[in-house]
Amino acid sequence: MRLQKLVLQDWRNIPQAVIEPGPELNVFCGENGQGKTNLLESIWMLTGGKSFRGSKDAELIRRGAEFSVIDAEAECGGRLQTIHLTVGAAGTARPGRTAKLNGVDQGRAAALAGTFTAVVFDPDHLSLIKGSPAGRRRFLDAALCQLYPGYLTALRRYTRILAQKNALLKQYARLPDAAGLLEVYDRQLAQFGEEVTRRRSEYLQALAPMAVENYRQISQGRETLSLAYKPSFDERGLLAAYERLRSGELRAGFCLAGPHREDVEVLLDGQPARVFGSQGQQRSAVLALKLAEATQAAEVTGEHPVMLLDDVLSELDDARQNYLLTRMRDKQVFVTACDSAAFGRAQGRVFPLKGGAVV
Ligand SMILES: Nc1ncnc2c1ncn2[C@@H]1O[C@H](COP(=O)(O)OP(=O)(O)OP(=O)(O)O)[C@@H](O)[C@H]1O
Ligand SMILES: [Mg+2]
Repeated sequence: MRLQKLVLQDWRNIPQAVIEPGPELNVFCGENGQGKTNLLESIWMLTGGKSFRGSKDAELIRRGAEFSVIDAEAECGGRLQTIHLTVGAAGTARPGRTAKLNGVDQGRAAALAGTFTAVVFDPDHLSLIKGSPAGRRRFLDAALCQLYPGYLTALRRYTRILAQKNALLKQYARLPDAAGLLEVYDRQLAQFGEEVTRRRSEYLQALAPMAVENYRQISQGRETLSLAYKPSFDERGLLAAYERLRSGELRAGFCLAGPHREDVEVLLDGQPARVFGSQGQQRSAVLALKLAEATQAAEVTGEHPVMLLDDVLSELDDARQNYLLTRMRDKQVFVTACDSAAFGRAQGRVFPLKGGAVV
């Protein structure tokens, strides 16, 4: 996957920009607030995904403008493809995000999914280590949704029935056939829940050895990362777990087992990384995971995704920075940084940014 040309119009604080990135390392460099992350975000939009910062469409359009336009030429699946994406303000001729691929109207930009693939690392991803289990589950779910179309269906069904079961548990004493209904819900939950848990734990099993090796290299063997999926039920299955937990669930008024109660354990030298890892170690662990995610996607789809790394170098010592910059050979990478000095060691193209313009 290689982005060859990017043309922006009225994107965030960027009135106009034309960029011809190199095949490997590309650096967006400039002071705070100049538009580095905005540029990275525009590349991410080509994947058809939502803004990785969770922004609404209206926030993407430059203040005062009606449309934002992103034009790109990228080598995807061995051929050159052109992507044309517009974000229109509400009330304009084309509101929302729409896309054309090789000149053909695709309707919503989400239809681009799978054409141009990218993996993004931004500082918020530290919550993968520091944050709640929900963030780690989202990481697995997002990756699995991209890889297996049936996964989202199972996850959605599970979530819907879970809400029904929780509602039932809250008013259990007042409903006439509550016991019968609970059994029906439990059986359905067990079916979809076991599928979700199985997929997640298989995915993590494939990812873990790569992430562990990445971490070993980033840290030059100084610490050892280990990862394990923590299911909420044992080999007897989820339905058996519900039976054992029945009285507890009735007391609690909510469901106590299933994918929504599971987590990924992240250890550094056998201790929870969340509590015992330093900032730089936590960042290294997220990077190791993200790089493994990209390698895994390359194995499934046959093409390495473009890497978008926002502000990764801060908090990494020289050796870790060096590793990161050299390991990216043969892959197209976009990195943001306030100062381009660190990149002298690696060959790449530097794009200095000032006030939303590439100078
Ligand atoms: N829709 C918009 N219209 C105009 N300006 C915008 C819009 N959205 C964001 N901006 C501005 O873009 C500026 C640059 O944002 P960006 O996050 O890209 O900076 P950055 O170069 O990554 O800075 P940092 O080094 O602090 O991360 C911000 O000052 C922000 O106010
Ligand atoms: Mg930024």
